[in-house]
Amino acid sequence: MPETYIHNGPLVIGAGLAGLSVALYTAPLKTLVLAPVALGVACSSAWAQGGIAAALSDQDTPEAHARDTLDAGAGIVDPLAAKTLTDMGRHVVEHLSDLGAPFDRNTDGSFVLNREAAHGLARVARVGGDLAGKAILAAVAEAARNAPHIEIWEQAFATGLIMSIDGAVIGAVVSFEGKTLHVYAPVTVMASGGLGGLYAVTTNPPNLRGDGMAMAALAGAVIADPEFVQFHPTALNVGLHPAPLATEALRGEGATLIDKDGIRFVLEDHEDGELAPRDIVARAVHKANVTGRGAFLDATVAIGAHFPAEFPTVFASCQSVGIDPRTEPMPVAPAAHYHMGGISTDIHGRSSLKGLYAVGECASTGVHGANRLASNSLLEAAAFGERVGLECAQTLSDAPFTPDTATAVIPALPPTLPPENLQALRDAISHYAGVVRDETGLKTLLNQIEDLENQYTGSLALINARLIALSALRRKESRGSHYRSDFPQLSDTPLRTFTTWAQCRPKLPEPQLEII
Ligand code: SIN
Repeated sequence: MPETYIHNGPLVIGAGLAGLSVALYTAPLKTLVLAPVALGVACSSAWAQGGIAAALSDQDTPEAHARDTLDAGAGIVDPLAAKTLTDMGRHVVEHLSDLGAPFDRNTDGSFVLNREAAHGLARVARVGGDLAGKAILAAVAEAARNAPHIEIWEQAFATGLIMSIDGAVIGAVVSFEGKTLHVYAPVTVMASGGLGGLYAVTTNPPNLRGDGMAMAALAGAVIADPEFVQFHPTALNVGLHPAPLATEALRGEGATLIDKDGIRFVLEDHEDGELAPRDIVARAVHKANVTGRGAFLDATVAIGAHFPAEFPTVFASCQSVGIDPRTEPMPVAPAAHYHMGGISTDIHGRSSLKGLYAVGECASTGVHGANRLASNSLLEAAAFGERVGLECAQTLSDAPFTPDTATAVIPALPPTLPPENLQALRDAISHYAGVVRDETGLKTLLNQIEDLENQYTGSLALINARLIALSALRRKESRGSHYRSDFPQLSDTPLRTFTTWAQCRPKLPEPQLEII
């Protein structure tokens, strides 16, 4: 029998950079954070290598950063969201530094900045070369552990959102310490991360399959841009799952993409070559691999002997599979890396449902458009996390929360796909809703999803798969990360997708009428 637990403050689902940033700013409200795994481990922010983008140099401005964000997003970035994000850049980096994140500094104390694709200049603050995510998360996790207003439940995860009869979110069903709890809270903040684990090849922790987006969709929230999944062009193509990332900063330092004959092939598609927008580089790498040319990242000249010191994470990944990037090119392939879509929010993190906020990768503020600018995600997690935390602190009273538990709508426990079905789904999504898509493939994928839906109705993975596949089918153009080989042109009308589960759910079989 599930137990009832009433929490008199924000309930934060997720403990990556977004969730913990929310919690750090909700003081003095008592804030409960659910961490599905041990704090600071398997969340995408902890795995980020490049760093955090912000206008930090004398040559840079938040306006220039916003312009690059708008350009990378291929016409559908929300300008207000981009301005909000980039205006907060310096403040966020300095705050993280104050918390103890040991950003690389020059001798004059200024930040060491890397150049990454589609940025007009060097703008990415880094830590220990490629250790940014790990170090930032460690500092933020330490601050959260020491904050008296924050309570963290580790190994706790939500399986559904609890609704009041008038359609507000009033908590979540939570699995914790072998028990199922109905946790009620005046506001729930979804910060559950992305969905790379739905793809066969991903750079994300494989347990991240977008559960937060599916739970919100089931509760009736508006979902934005689910078809926009970003593929990182240079995951190490060595048969590992998840695929180790070879950070874009390597290309920023001059590493080149070559085929097996040593020809720099991205230049054939874009004059900026390796530093072209990420979707263009990902498609070029994909094409080189499927046509048999092969795709390799060559850092032997640009980085060479400095590799272990400058890129320790990538070096360790290479070593584990017997590659020495100082002397030989690394085989690479695109991998699902970041979801631009998610729970639709405004710039305060408010979703379309009363009582539900969303932040970080599970949210879609509109700041990334069709293609996220590199290293904007850590900034978004921390900046919008701060905004949501402050919004909670300013709008919630500390009066006791008294939900009507008798009339609450409690979602059923969602079925879990057996491993073989999950693997088949991941293979199909990668194949048909990957770097290159078309109508025939997306319809094949939807048929596979429907077969599984008949057996596993309500599976969170299947809900997300359907949202992605159907929105990709409905978007008859190519824009940013969404490339349709049957509609290769950009439409003249830049539109975002806003949809609900009611508009996407499978048609239920017609009821059989009994004739009397
Ligand atoms: C990378 O280091 O290449 C990843 C950075 C990002 O995805 O923002």
